[in-house]
This record gives sequence, C-alpha cells and structure tokens, in this order.
Amino acid sequence: MRNDVVRRGRLAGERSGEMMHFLSSMGADRHLADADVLVDIAHVMMLNKQRIIEPDTAKSLLSALLTLYDNGIPDSAFGDQFEDIHAGIESYLIENTGEEVGGRLHSGRSRNDEVAACLRIRIREDILRQLTILCKLREVLLSLAGDHQDAVMPGFTHFQHAQPTTLAHYFLSYEQAFSRDFERLHETFPRVNRSPLGAAAFASTGFPINREYTADLLGFDGVIGNTMDAVASRDFALEVLADLSLLMVTVSRLCEDLILWSSAFVRFVDLDDAFCSTSSIMPQKKNPDSAEIMRAKTGSVLGAFMASAAIVKGLPMSYNRDLQELTPGLIRGVQDAKHTTGLLAEMLASATFNTGRMREEAGRGNATATDLADMLVRRFGLPFRTAHSIVGRAVQKGTPDLLNLDAAAVEITGSPLSTRGLSAIDITVALDVEKSLQEKRATGSPAKIPVAAALEERRRQLAGDREMLEKRKEQLTESVQALIREARRIVS
Ligand code: ARG
Repeated sequence: MRNDVVRRGRLAGERSGEMMHFLSSMGADRHLADADVLVDIAHVMMLNKQRIIEPDTAKSLLSALLTLYDNGIPDSAFGDQFEDIHAGIESYLIENTGEEVGGRLHSGRSRNDEVAACLRIRIREDILRQLTILCKLREVLLSLAGDHQDAVMPGFTHFQHAQPTTLAHYFLSYEQAFSRDFERLHETFPRVNRSPLGAAAFASTGFPINREYTADLLGFDGVIGNTMDAVASRDFALEVLADLSLLMVTVSRLCEDLILWSSAFVRFVDLDDAFCSTSSIMPQKKNPDSAEIMRAKTGSVLGAFMASAAIVKGLPMSYNRDLQELTPGLIRGVQDAKHTTGLLAEMLASATFNTGRMREEAGRGNATATDLADMLVRRFGLPFRTAHSIVGRAVQKGTPDLLNLDAAAVEITGSPLSTRGLSAIDITVALDVEKSLQEKRATGSPAKIPVAAALEERRRQLAGDREMLEKRKEQLTESVQALIREARRIVS
C-alpha cells in the first residue's frame, strides 16, 4: 500500500482503517478527480512559465498528468489511506516520476486552494448541465401549453374550484417560474467561475506565481482577489444549493399537482406507466411514485443547503477541515436536482391530460360568480363590494339565479335588480365559462389572445437563454481543449 506523502514528515504511527475512512474525503473526491488533473496541469504550466521549476521537470510532470488525463486516474490513487484525491494523485506522481520530479508539483500551493478550485470547476459544469435540463423542461411545458390552448379547466385557490382557466395558462405559469430558476442559476455562474488558485494555504506564497495565468488557463472569469477569502469561503456552493432549493420547491409543487390530478377524485392526468408503480398486495393500483420521489427529493436538496450552511456558519477564518464535509452534500444536492428535473420533463412529455374531465369541472362551484358580480358593476354602476355581497348572498341562498339575486339585492341594498332590467338571460350569459375566459384579455391572462402572445414571448426568451448557454458551454470546452493542447505542446 502506497503511503500518503503529505503525512510522512510530521506524523508518526499507523491509523486504523476506521480512522482513515473517517478522515478521508475520497468518497466525494471521486467527483472532483477529473478537475484535479486539470488544476494540476495548469499549476505545472504556471510554475514552468514563471521559471519556478525547470523545463525538464515541467515536461515530466505534464507528461505524467496527461497520461492521467488520457487514460484515467488509476484506482490506487483513490485509496482510503490518502486523506483526499489531492494527496492520492501527488503520491501517485511521486511514485511514478520520482521525488525529484513529482516532489515539485506542490510548490507554491496548498490543498486548500486546490480543493476550492476543483469544487468550482466541478460545480460550474453542473450548473451548465442543470441549465440545459431546465431548458428542456421549459420546452416541454411550452409545447404542452401550445397543444392545450383550448383546454378549459378549473383553476384552484385553497384547492377549491375558483375560476376557469386553460391548461395552457397553467403550463405557462410553471414555465415562467422555471425561467426564473434558469435566470438565478445563470447569474450565479460568474460568481462560481473565479479562481482561488495561488491562495495556497490562505496567505499565498513567496514564489513568484502568476494567479491570472492559471485562472485564464482553466477558463475562469478571473481570480478571487483576497487569498484568505479564496480558501475560506463556500458561499458559491451555498448559492448554488439555494438556487437549486428554490428550483426544487417549484418542482415539488408541480409534482403535488400531478399526484392530486392522478387521483380518482380528480382524474385530470394519466401518467405514463413507466413513471408509476403498483402495489404488492392491491393488484389494481397505479401509483404516481415518480412524482412522489421527486417531491421527496426536494426535501433532500433543501437538507443539503441547510447542512452546508450549518457546516460553514461557525468557522473561524480561514480554511477549516469542516469544509470537507460540505462536498458530499453539495454533490448529492446537485445530482438530485439534475435527475429530478430531467425525469420531470420526461414524465410531463409522456403524460396524457384528460381535457374532458377538466372541462366538466371548469364551471363547478359557481366558478364564474366573480364574472356575475363584475357584470352587475358594469351594468348597474354598483361598487364592486356591493355586487360581491349580492352574489355571495345569492350563493348562500343556493344558487345565483334571478330569484336569489333579487332577494339578496333587497337584503343588501334595499331594492331588487330585476326592476332595473336584470333578466335570467343576463345571468346565464354572465355565468358562461367560455365567455368568462375570453374576457380575461390583459397581459398574462388565460384568454386565447394573451396566451398566444405569451407563448410567442416565452419561446423567444427560451431561444435566447439557450443561445447564451451554448456560448458558455463552448467557452468552457474551448478553454479545456486549449489547456490540454498547450500542455501537449510543452511535452513534445
Ligand atoms: N480534503 C480536503 C477538503 O475537502 C482538502 C483540503 C485539505 N486541507 C487541509 N488543510 N487538510 O477540504
């Protein structure tokens, strides 16, 4: 078993397996290992450029690192005897290139700036993956909205029938919410994408390093100026988890709707069998388990944020080993959010929406009573509150027909409305569901015209977001390619 080169000088004694396992961050570091190789390559190129190491040393180091880049990191570097992947890779390099070469890799740096850089590289990629999936989810919602512009359904408040709307209007509401999640994560990206490298332990180093050069090589948007802050802060990770928490809260609400809508009470949606489970005892059951797990994953992501914030909140300046404990939760939170939103998009795209059932329910519970009150305002010049009271009282009496409205008007205003010309036909027209819907014409409302306008505007917004995202992705891919090209050039 190879030894951890970091420990060998200062510390004596063997550690038990349990202790090594307890201290090691190797489990989570598997997610940082690829980034670590890139960070090592950029660091060696900087040491070489600044003449901190000899060109021959740089060549040998880069050649060994490029082998790791090309062929993958051997399992031996992931052993539990290493405190982390940084020690694992350094130990591997020393064993393979000798102490004279490998022993120079860690000049002018610390694992503290190294791990912060790895995290930022990993998380910026996760952000871009999450943004890509969010675009897919938004596309599915917009396409469902486009297909259901005529699907009249009941809208709910307090989960009580409230006013008619359309399924398109409903899907547009979620697309709009998810577009804010896109915006938030996208705005977080530049704060994540800054280089802590060169901070070393926290006080930087006396070697003539060039922080801007490593930042540039790794595709960062710049350096984190203060070196103490660079190693000590994890607010970039908290911010990502906060963004994802908000995203997941919306996901969970949508799932809640789908779960309720799947019930025999409601029957608004039939989820594809692939997203459902059955019972081990009740053979008739079809349960919306995927939506339930998605709702539960929201709790896990919120938990990851809480755990991470709690880990950081009591730490004195600057680096503390506690920070290591944040990584697994961060990775899990990011993965949970990614898988959940990806599968949600698929679940929605494959679901069948029962528009007949929705239509049946759209007018239930005097869902157009507000329109009746509005008509009384327009027709008789009543204050809205008066009209609201008259219709409410008529509903209390049973149903807002001419008889009850007149009785209610007498009770509330002292005189009936029929004597002023209100007829049964007027009431039927005012209560008509279709008419109610098509009168909602203001921006963002459920009538055909504003829905069509919203669809167009949202599609344009999505196309713009996608373009922005593709540019970001290309920039990152190009910077990694350029780094590797330059490393190969130095080696050859
Ligand atoms: N495994 C550590 C982490 O994840 C890397 C930094 C270790 N630094 C230290 N001073 N022990 O934070």
